[in-house]
Amino acid sequence: MRKLSLVPQASLLTTLIVAASANFLADVDLTWGSGRGKILENGNLLQLSLDKASGSGFQSKQEYLFGRIDMRMKLVPGNSAGTVTTLYLSSQGPTHDEIDYEFLGNISGQPYTLHTNIYTQGKGNKEQQFRLWFDPRLDFHTYSILWNPQQILFYVDGTPVRVFRNMEGMGLPYPKNQAMRLYSSLWNADDWATMGGRVKTDWSQAPFVASYRGFSANACVWAGGRSSCPAAKGTWWAQSLDSPGAQKLKWVRQNYMIYDYCTDSKRFPQGFPPECSLST
Ligand SMILES: *[C@@H]1O[C@H](CO)[C@@H](O)[C@H](O)[C@H]1NC(C)=O
Repeated sequence: MRKLSLVPQASLLTTLIVAASANFLADVDLTWGSGRGKILENGNLLQLSLDKASGSGFQSKQEYLFGRIDMRMKLVPGNSAGTVTTLYLSSQGPTHDEIDYEFLGNISGQPYTLHTNIYTQGKGNKEQQFRLWFDPRLDFHTYSILWNPQQILFYVDGTPVRVFRNMEGMGLPYPKNQAMRLYSSLWNADDWATMGGRVKTDWSQAPFVASYRGFSANACVWAGGRSSCPAAKGTWWAQSLDSPGAQKLKWVRQNYMIYDYCTDSKRFPQGFPPECSLST
C-alpha cells in the first residue's frame, strides 16, 4: 500500500503529464481471463468476455491521485442475468480507498441495476443503486468518475447521479492520500447479482461480452513517489455541482434511484452514519 501526503507545491503541480488519451494498447493491461479480454481496432476498442470457465479484466497502467476518468461502455446484451461488469478506481491494502460502478445484468427486456459504492480507509457500506434512463446494452454510454479534493461525482452521459463530499470537517475520512488505479472486470455473480441470486446465469448464452471505447484520464498521475498534475488542470479540479447539476441529480434521485443506504433503517438500527444527515 502506498501512503502519501499531498503536497500541492507549484513545482509538483506544473509538471506537464496529461494522461488524457484514448488508446487501450497504450493505457491499460489485460490482467486476467487468459485471452478472454481483447484489445481491437488498433487500441480503440476493448472487449471483456465471460464464459463458464472464467471472466476477464483489465487495469490502467497508471495510478492517479485525483482526476476525471471517462469510459464509454456497452454492456452485455440480451440475457445478462447473473453477470456483473465493474468499473472502479482502487488503491491497495486493508485501508484502501475505492470508487465503484457495478452493472448488474438482468434477463432480456429487464433493466440493469447500476450499483455504486465508495470505500474510505477500507470501509465501504455506502451503496446507492439506480436504474438507467436508457438500455445500457444497446449503445455505448459514458460513465465518469470525477475525483477532486472536495468531492467525488459520478456522471452518466454527463448527468450527475451521485455526489460524495469531503466531510473531513465532520471527522469522516476522505480519499485523498492514496493513489488509485482504474480497474474493470466482467464476472459471474449469479449467487447474488440478479434478484438476490434467484436468477442464474444462462451459460447457453455465453460468451458474454462487454465493450469499451473512449477511455480518458484527465488526472494527476502518481509515479515514483510523487503526483504530477496537468499544467492546466481543467475544470475537474475545482468542479462541484452547480445549480443545473444539482437539479439533474435531484431528477435522477427522484426517478431512477432504487436504493440508498442512507434510507435503509434496517441496516442501521443504531442510527444512520453521520454523512447521511447532510443533504445530497
Ligand atoms: C431485474 O428485473 C427485475 C424486474 O424488472 C427487477 O426487479 C430487478 O431489480 C432487476 N435487476 C436486477 C439486477 O435484478
